[in-house]
Amino acid sequence: MASLLISYHSQSGACAQLARAACRGARREAETEVSLLRAWDVGVGELQAADGLLLVAAENSGYLSGGMKDFLDRVFYPAIDRSLVLPYALVISAGNDGRGAVRQATRILSGIPFSPAAEPLILRGEVQLAHMQAAEDLGQAMAAGLAMGIY
Ligand SMILES: Cc1cc2nc3c(=O)[nH]c(=O)nc-3n(C[C@H](O)[C@H](O)[C@H](O)COP(=O)(O)O)c2cc1C
Repeated sequence: MASLLISYHSQSGACAQLARAACRGARREAETEVSLLRAWDVGVGELQAADGLLLVAAENSGYLSGGMKDFLDRVFYPAIDRSLVLPYALVISAGNDGRGAVRQATRILSGIPFSPAAEPLILRGEVQLAHMQAAEDLGQAMAAGLAMGIY
């Protein structure tokens, strides 16, 4: 059975909502086991147990949110040491931009190297139904892709 890890960092709850939506979508795929964890609670052990990674975080001051950056910094060398190569998807919640967070996250992830399974999804403004739907769809698509072994 394939395994998808959804890791998120959220200050106000916006990213937490989107991560839960992604998780709902992913859990529609019976062939993929889905875990939803705060970035603070994820280490290289959880990554090693996963076949794919979906990250949900905000842009803060033009960068990836600190909690998600902390996670990527912590696992960077341990993942390289274990030769982990995971497909990943990225959801960025942002007030009005999000490109800085995408740039930083993709740069770090490509250095491990993890490979993008989808275009980064930037969701701007307060969380709306359409954002939840987009996160849900991405979660489901990633879970389905893992079950089919297409990444
Ligand atoms: C300290 C801080 C800095 C922010 N900086 C940016 C920014 O540079 N660009 C942007 O588009 N949004 C920015 N935002 C808005 C957040 O990205 C947005 O509110 C997001 O939904 C927050 O998600 P979270 O509270 O779940 O972490 C900032 C918010 C905060 C609190």
